[in-house]
Amino acid sequence: MMENPFQETLFQRNRAEPCTVVIFGATGDLTHRKLIPAFYNIAACGDLPPQFKVVGFARRDKSDEVFRAELEAANRKHSRQGHNDELWATFAQGIHYHRSEFQDLEGYKSLKVQLDKYDQERGTAANRLFYLASAPEFFEPIMQLLREAGLNEGADGKWARVVCEKPFGKDFASARKLNDTVNATFDEADTYRIDHYLGKETAQNIMVLRFANALFEPNWNNRYIDHVQITCAENLGMEGGRGGYYDTAGALRDMVQNHLFQLLSLVAMEPPTDLSADSVRDEKVKVIRALRPLVGPEAVTQNVVRAQYCAGSVDGVQRVGYREEDRVNPESKTECYVALRLMIDTWRWQGVPFYIRVGKQLPKKATEISVHFKKPPQVPFATSKMLLNSENTLVIRIQPDEGIALRILCKQPGQALSVQQVKMDFHYSSSFGNASPEAYERLLLDAMAGDATLFARRDEVENAWKFIDEIQKAWHKSDNPPPMCEYPAGSWGPVEADNLLRADGREWRLL
Ligand code: BG6
Repeated sequence: MMENPFQETLFQRNRAEPCTVVIFGATGDLTHRKLIPAFYNIAACGDLPPQFKVVGFARRDKSDEVFRAELEAANRKHSRQGHNDELWATFAQGIHYHRSEFQDLEGYKSLKVQLDKYDQERGTAANRLFYLASAPEFFEPIMQLLREAGLNEGADGKWARVVCEKPFGKDFASARKLNDTVNATFDEADTYRIDHYLGKETAQNIMVLRFANALFEPNWNNRYIDHVQITCAENLGMEGGRGGYYDTAGALRDMVQNHLFQLLSLVAMEPPTDLSADSVRDEKVKVIRALRPLVGPEAVTQNVVRAQYCAGSVDGVQRVGYREEDRVNPESKTECYVALRLMIDTWRWQGVPFYIRVGKQLPKKATEISVHFKKPPQVPFATSKMLLNSENTLVIRIQPDEGIALRILCKQPGQALSVQQVKMDFHYSSSFGNASPEAYERLLLDAMAGDATLFARRDEVENAWKFIDEIQKAWHKSDNPPPMCEYPAGSWGPVEADNLLRADGREWRLL
């Protein structure tokens, strides 16, 4: 029998090692909404070793008690499995606050003294995980001062790792510079660039679906697949003051360069030879490198649609247009919707377009991948109308309502031979019962266990930026830039995005 590379991991789980996690920018939203609830839930599942501490490193003056009380309030709101006072009391004993400017070496030296003390007190074993959740402009000084304070190297076989939050650069040049800075302080093997889409249960399942089921893989190529669509729709705009950051980024940088390209890689990659972090990432990066570059305004106009929303209503609530949003430049040229036609120049995917769309203020929140198979060459009993819809579609719902559906044609019951589309549907919620862990739970656990498989590697990030940079160049630096289109908030995007597919005789799947 052929060996299945997934068999082993199906039964293995990562175990967090004793450690102290230092969060830079610990007073921010991410720590309150995601990181602390994730650590708490790892503890609630019994996966957090008792020799564990979190140290919040930030600029505001605060005692441990005040910091813990703030985090407790946040955990009550955001914890996936609710909040248990008893568990929290134990967990909170391991939380501390360290006040310092990010650029002050003294703050790092005193941090080192504190960490050494915790190692003695709590047995955190001198393993350290540094989490960069600060504004990106501080990444560089933090790296430099961690190095100067000697915090970047584990002593006597202990480890020191760094987790970098997004955005990881804003183009190829800045990402490479940041990578140089990070790698001057931590080895690549100790560098964990987070992309929370990789921590989503359904994203992880893509590899299992493809490589552990003999049914799909033989058909997973240009002989059987007509095209693939990836949609990431959000029904929110610039709530919570996000406009300031978003207006400097836009949909292409904020979502496509990272999350959407990660999903694309998982769908299009070749089977890895084993499941080590590098084997998997070697295959993923090959997909990004094989993307046919879109160079110049003409190629970009033909293959990419960018748009901003104008006023409209989402779920019956009136929304302002993008340029009227809080902290957004009223003359902004930033896209909050983008649709792309991508080609992957490999044997497997020659001639198969991958259509990607992502946008804010769309009718609902939903991320899905749909694989559209070629139509049968001839259907003897179908009318031409039926033939129009006769393709089999495999839909991988990343969120919400996580699951997989296969659309097939069936005979409608009755005397006549009528054919109808039906779906075979698998829902995580009904098949597995318990809710899946939050993406951050899985990723933090992996970082504490030293497994970098679900984190982006340097070459993945840099190659993705290279591709994105050409589009940005055509949009912002050419004499005849492609147009900025418009769509009302609450609609499915601009008509130009529909035309992108119509030009190929295809339609976006209705979600
Ligand atoms: C973040 C983006 O990385 O992902 C946000 O910066 C976006 O703009 C978010 O809203 C979407 O994540 P999720 O998990 O809610 O789909």
